[in-house]
Amino acid sequence: MARETWATRTGFILAAAGSAVGLGNIWRFPWMTADNGGSAFLAVYLLVVLGVGVPGLLGEFVIGRRARRNPMGALRDLSGSRYWGAIGAVSAVTGVALLSFYSVVGGWILRYLLVSIVGPVTGGAPYLASPGPYFDSISFGVEAALFHLGFLAVTGGIVFGGVRRGIELGTKVMVPAVLVLLVGMASWVVTQPGAAAGYQFFLEFDLATLQANAASVIAPAAGQALFTLSVGAGTMVTYASYLGEDRSLPFDGAVIALLNTGVGVLAGLVVFPLLFSQGVDPGTGGPGALFVSIAGAFAALPGGDLLAIVFFGVVALAALSSSISMLEIPVAVLVDEGGWSRGTAVGVLLALTALTGTVTALNPALFDFVAGTLADLLLTGGLLAFLLFAGWVLGPDSIEEYVAGAGALGARFATPWLFAIGVVIPIFLVFTLLTTAGLDARIGVWPTVAAAAVLVGAVLFGLTRNASWRGVWR
Ligand code: PHE
Repeated sequence: MARETWATRTGFILAAAGSAVGLGNIWRFPWMTADNGGSAFLAVYLLVVLGVGVPGLLGEFVIGRRARRNPMGALRDLSGSRYWGAIGAVSAVTGVALLSFYSVVGGWILRYLLVSIVGPVTGGAPYLASPGPYFDSISFGVEAALFHLGFLAVTGGIVFGGVRRGIELGTKVMVPAVLVLLVGMASWVVTQPGAAAGYQFFLEFDLATLQANAASVIAPAAGQALFTLSVGAGTMVTYASYLGEDRSLPFDGAVIALLNTGVGVLAGLVVFPLLFSQGVDPGTGGPGALFVSIAGAFAALPGGDLLAIVFFGVVALAALSSSISMLEIPVAVLVDEGGWSRGTAVGVLLALTALTGTVTALNPALFDFVAGTLADLLLTGGLLAFLLFAGWVLGPDSIEEYVAGAGALGARFATPWLFAIGVVIPIFLVFTLLTTAGLDARIGVWPTVAAAAVLVGAVLFGLTRNASWRGVWR
């Protein structure tokens, strides 16, 4: 059977933007920001999105479109080595791991949406009276596991529909809906008394805090930057593998990154002024930050119950357009490599993630680990592998792929881009990996940077020893 492709030019952009825009923007971002010192985190995060996330996105696109295969098959076929195939296969594991906590949060959203809808009938949504205790009572346990299964089922249904009739069609509806509703909410929030303090909190740039905290926020900010762009998991390799024509990869990458950052900022422009106008403290940390604070604001607002339905509806759509991109990674591996039918692959993976997600939904400590540290490690390590591959195994072929369809402006960035993904960004990613492992706390930041450089140098030496290709690097 011929491999599926996107049906329209915008289909790919919307699907990839739909993957990027999600709970990362609306739920994980305020959580991580509150946990890592506010504006300092924001600044580092934006820098990493620009300097690492966007070039990384292009690295994944190049691999995917060149190979027209899932991450495992792509790395194996393009290199001719089973070992690279094994490295690519980690993407399938990453997809399952991400889905194991993401659909738990998706379940929370579904529940908040549901109780918001039936709220007027049952005498008010239960979270309105006591936001904190309500979140604590529903976030983990058997009911959380059940709602997680519900979210997972919808995700599976869309992915089962396939690339065109499932993912493309779904994101074509979901992404514009998210945009329109968020813009509507942001313009309404402007009219709320007291909103100004929220804008100030969100947008003020505090250099002193940044300088004091820079070292300790780099690793979590980097993890969050990769997470929000869906980079490092293999999602973007997989989505680009369904590109049938010569699109401009740098152009598409820029549009996707802009859309994602735009939605993140928009969400901030809704959430923070809303909180401040109601005198709610945005600094409550933990994965419940969004739920507790936003529910408190809805409780105090006239018409808050209606607003709640719109808000949780938006978040549910954004979450779905991302969760389908997590499931599609292992689905593509099983379909391409195992010759499975899409239906069987979706069914087996749903059964697996139903199990892993249930374990996560029952265990808050495990949830924190999977959603925080493990996700950061998998995405950082994954992106490192993809970029070393694009930079050194594909090498000049990466440039060729990057330039194809890119036009004069995009092509001008090709060589600097290859240098960035081949040398500079890998050093940065190894540094954040070492930091996550706690090395910088013991030996200091600059020795850790040096250690990262030496490690990357050693790997590059190994990679280039047998390189038969000519060109850019020599
Ligand atoms: N980018 C998505 C979000 O912000 C999460 C995601 C990460 C999706 C990795 C796919 C792969 O919610």
